[in-house]
Amino acid sequence: EYRWFFEYPLPIPSTKSPKLTYTNDKTHAIIDYYEVEVKPVKQQIFPNLSPTELVAYDGVSPGPMFVMHKGREAVVRFSNNGPTNMSVHVHGQYNRAPFDGWAADYAYPGQYKDYYYPNAQNARTVWYHDHTEYATGEHTYRGQDGFYIITDSEEQSLGLPSGKYDVPLAISAKVYNLDGSLKFDTNNNSGLWGDIIHVNGQPWPYLNVEPRKYRFRLLDASVSRTYDLSFVEGLNGSAIPFNAIASDSGLFSQPVNTDNIAMSMGERYEIVFDFSGHAGKKIILKNSHGLGENVDYAATDMVMQFNVGSSVSDSSNNGDVPSSLRYIPPAPKSDVVKDFTFGRSDDGTWLINGVGFSDVEHRILTRPPRGDDEIWTLHNGNGGGTHPVHIHLVDFQVLSRTGGRNNVLPYESAGMKDVVWLAGGETVQVVARYAPWDGVYMFHCHNLVHEDHDMLAAFNVTQLAK
Ligand code: C2O
Ligand code: CU
Repeated sequence: EYRWFFEYPLPIPSTKSPKLTYTNDKTHAIIDYYEVEVKPVKQQIFPNLSPTELVAYDGVSPGPMFVMHKGREAVVRFSNNGPTNMSVHVHGQYNRAPFDGWAADYAYPGQYKDYYYPNAQNARTVWYHDHTEYATGEHTYRGQDGFYIITDSEEQSLGLPSGKYDVPLAISAKVYNLDGSLKFDTNNNSGLWGDIIHVNGQPWPYLNVEPRKYRFRLLDASVSRTYDLSFVEGLNGSAIPFNAIASDSGLFSQPVNTDNIAMSMGERYEIVFDFSGHAGKKIILKNSHGLGENVDYAATDMVMQFNVGSSVSDSSNNGDVPSSLRYIPPAPKSDVVKDFTFGRSDDGTWLINGVGFSDVEHRILTRPPRGDDEIWTLHNGNGGGTHPVHIHLVDFQVLSRTGGRNNVLPYESAGMKDVVWLAGGETVQVVARYAPWDGVYMFHCHNLVHEDHDMLAAFNVTQLAK
């Protein structure tokens, strides 16, 4: 049992610096070169238990935070000094296929791989995590995850809270053995919900804040747990409204005022929360019990606490959120509609249209011509369950949801996404342009236990001869 609620501060990931910057005067190419080491580390998580062994990027979990500027390319050398295979996926930007973390393209212990990242898309909160076949869940759970922020000048001109007022929050849920080690059962193929809620690796932390606006970048980095988040004053206050401003693929066209955000694994939402009316108070970030298939425990309805101080040290970027944030093109029209059913097989594994990653011959399910717009209809089939569906390479728009909750939430339709929450009984339609690169990319369920028990397939973006 964990008794140290809101007693330890929120860890803030440090920003990774490039080791070298290559410049070429003739081509004006500039490429930042980074090095990251995957390695085991012991971290004191339970105050009264032995330190917990993690395997993490640079030995910290979440790993160092990349802050990339749109238009400036990067190469990152990931050296695998951990005990298991490693494949790194930067989730939320388009990478060329060889650098996208294909699950079967892993580095053995002792090897390294250089990944090239274009950083060519609009500002967004991306994250990076392991993607090794049949082991993504365990590797991510044991520490291989981190933030990767892309910023651009359009975003910076909006005057959103920045610097120490821009805080990434990776939420995850884990289970511990009595000796302080992490519990993970590779035979369980349903899910790992976890009784201990962590933010940036620390169970139920606190953050001291000033009575002003903050930008929070929320990420559900959990293996299987979904959240319905709200801010309350004291333990039993009512939900305080805030502005949601961005999701997986960057800023919304306009802010969405809401008093909760429901999010599934792999999704990101960014919000601006104003503490100004709460000086001297405690604001708790709460979760809801009874959501989806989650298994709940005593304190899984709490996430973290904000201790609001009495004075503001810097009042810049503290104005109203602009009413218009970014131009988002209307959803393209398309006559191409493809169906994918996410369901459980008789032997308990999870498949997409009856196929899993282990079915090497059939796992490429479709071949979109490069540049084409396609509507994918995602059905929740046998076995129900929550399947956060993640499509690599593309940003999509959520067109419709039928069955289950029966509507697209306002903050799901206000921006572009790369994960959509497909709950039991639901059918969701998304539209995307399959570009800019050709190649074989994955799509899968982001319940990492489902993914590792085979709910992982691929599409091949194909360049047609003209
Ligand atoms: Cu966040 Cu294919 O993964
Ligand atoms: Cu699933």
